[in-house]
Amino acid sequence: MPTLLIHAATGEQRLEVAVGQSVRDALDVTELRVRAACGGTGTCGACVVKLIGGNVSAPTVAEYMKLTPEERAEGTRLACQLRIKGDAEILVDQPAPPSRWKSIPAENLITPAQHLPDLPAHIYGVAVDLGTTHIRVALWDRKHGKRIATRRGPNPQGAFGADVLNRLDAVRDRPERAAELAKLARTAIIQAVRDILARDVGEVKPMMAEIGEVLIVGNTAMLALLTGYGGEDLVDPAYWQAAVDCRPPDAAVWQALWFMPHARIVLPAPVAGFIGSDLIADLLATRLTEEPAGAMLIDVGTNTEIALWDGAHLHVTSVPGGPAFEGVGIRHGMPAEPGAICRVRPAGDAFICETIGHSEVRGICGSGLADAIAVLLAQGKLKPSGRFAVPPGPEGFALDPANPKSSITGIDIDAFQRAKAATAAAMGQLLEQAKLHWSDLHRLCVCGAFGHTLDVAHAQAVGLLPPLDAARIELFADASLAGAEEALLSGQGDTQFAALTARTKTINLSLISGYEDSYINHLRLRPIVIDSK
Ligand code: FES
Repeated sequence: MPTLLIHAATGEQRLEVAVGQSVRDALDVTELRVRAACGGTGTCGACVVKLIGGNVSAPTVAEYMKLTPEERAEGTRLACQLRIKGDAEILVDQPAPPSRWKSIPAENLITPAQHLPDLPAHIYGVAVDLGTTHIRVALWDRKHGKRIATRRGPNPQGAFGADVLNRLDAVRDRPERAAELAKLARTAIIQAVRDILARDVGEVKPMMAEIGEVLIVGNTAMLALLTGYGGEDLVDPAYWQAAVDCRPPDAAVWQALWFMPHARIVLPAPVAGFIGSDLIADLLATRLTEEPAGAMLIDVGTNTEIALWDGAHLHVTSVPGGPAFEGVGIRHGMPAEPGAICRVRPAGDAFICETIGHSEVRGICGSGLADAIAVLLAQGKLKPSGRFAVPPGPEGFALDPANPKSSITGIDIDAFQRAKAATAAAMGQLLEQAKLHWSDLHRLCVCGAFGHTLDVAHAQAVGLLPPLDAARIELFADASLAGAEEALLSGQGDTQFAALTARTKTINLSLISGYEDSYINHLRLRPIVIDSK
C-alpha cells in the first residue's frame, strides 16, 4: 500500500492508504481531520491541504471551481478530491478543530444484508453500538440502502471507571449519578450523529427531523446506564441470569432532547444481566446460527461475551475479559488506533514493532500485547509462568529501547494472563455444557477489541485461542455495529433480536464447579490442550 506522509503543527505521521482512496477519507480515521461540510462532493471547499509531492490524481473540476489559480499554483488541493496513486506527502495547515469522533476504517465495516423497507418519509436511520470503551455510530439512508458515514469515539462514562463494575459501583454508591451517566452517553450519541451530518451531509437540524429510527445495542450494563436505570442490581450475581428491562422510560423525552421528533428509539432487550444485545448483534452479523453445530463466537472486550451454537441452541456466557485486551490497565496500553503497536516480530535479539497506521509508537494495543508475549515466550525471555527470565526493572521490558512507550511490565503480562485464562476457561466450559469438544469447532469468530490485527498463531501459542486450523478462525472488528445496522435496515430489529434470544441458554460460570480450576489451569502461557473425543 502507498504511504502518505503528513506534516502538521502537531508533528509528522505516516499512513498506509489504499490506491484510489481520497486524502480526506484517509485522514478521517485519524485525529488530524480536515474541515469538511459536504460529504466529500467537492462543493464546500473547506477541506484544503497542501500537496508537497507524490503520485496523486490530477485536480478535478471541483478543485478548479473552488480554488483560485494562485492557490492551485501553491499546491493547494481539496483533500476529498485528491486521490492517492502512490507514495505522497502533504501539509495539513488548516485542520478541523480537535474532535473525539473519527470515521471507522472501511476495512472494519461489514456490508449488512439489506431488505430495504418501503419508506415514504423519515428515511434516515442510526445504528449504535454502545461499548464500554467506545461508541460506534452509523448513519444510513434506509430507503436506498446507503451508509452515509460512521463514527467511533470514546464512551465519556469512562470518567467513572474503565470497566462495567466500576461504573455500576459508582451509581450504587451515589444513585444520583445514574442520571449523570445516562446523560453522558445520550449526549455522546447525538454528538456523533451531528458530527456526521455536519461533515458528511452539510445540514444538521433539518436532517435530524428526517431520522426515523435509532437502534442501539450494547452490553446490559451500558444499556442500563444509558436509560438511567442505573443497573445497581447487576453487580449482584443473583441478577446475572435475570431479564433486564432497558427500554427507555421516556422515549418522547429522548426524541425532544435529540431533536429527532420522528425517530423510533429501539433498544433490543439484552439476553440477561451479564449478556447484552451486542452479542446478539454479533450473531446476526456473522450468521452463526445458519451453521451446523460447533460454531463459536467470542466478542473480546472489557467484558468478553461468548456464544456456542450446538445446532439448536446458543449457549452463552460472559467473563471479565479484562480491559487488558483493550489496552486499559496496561502501562502503555491504548486502543487499536494510529500509533498503537499491533504486531511484534523478532529480528535477531531485537524486535520489529508494527504500529497501526505505521505511525510513531504511542503505546501498545491488545493484539500487540498478545504478539509481544508470544515472541518473548518463544525467545525464552518470558517463562510460561509469565515471569521474565531476567527481571527488566520497574520500567518494564522495552521492545524498542529508543521508545519507552514500547515497554511492557510484569503487571501488564499478569493482566493479560488473567484475561486470556478467563476467556479460554469460559470457552471450554461452554463446550462442556453443550457436550461438544474443542475439535468439534468448525468455525470460531473472534469479534471486538483485537480487530483484524490479531496474529492467530501467536494467540494460539499463548493459549488465548484454541489451536484449530487457521482457516476455521475468522476475525471481525466491528461485528456488533454491523448487526445493529442489519436490524436497522430490516425495520424489524426487535423481532430479529427476540428470535435469536429465544434460542439462548445462559450459563453463569460462577455457578459451575470446575470453572475456577480450569481458569487456574489456563493461566500459564502455553497452547490450549485440545481434548480428543
Ligand atoms: S470540498 Fe472537500 S469535503 Fe467539501
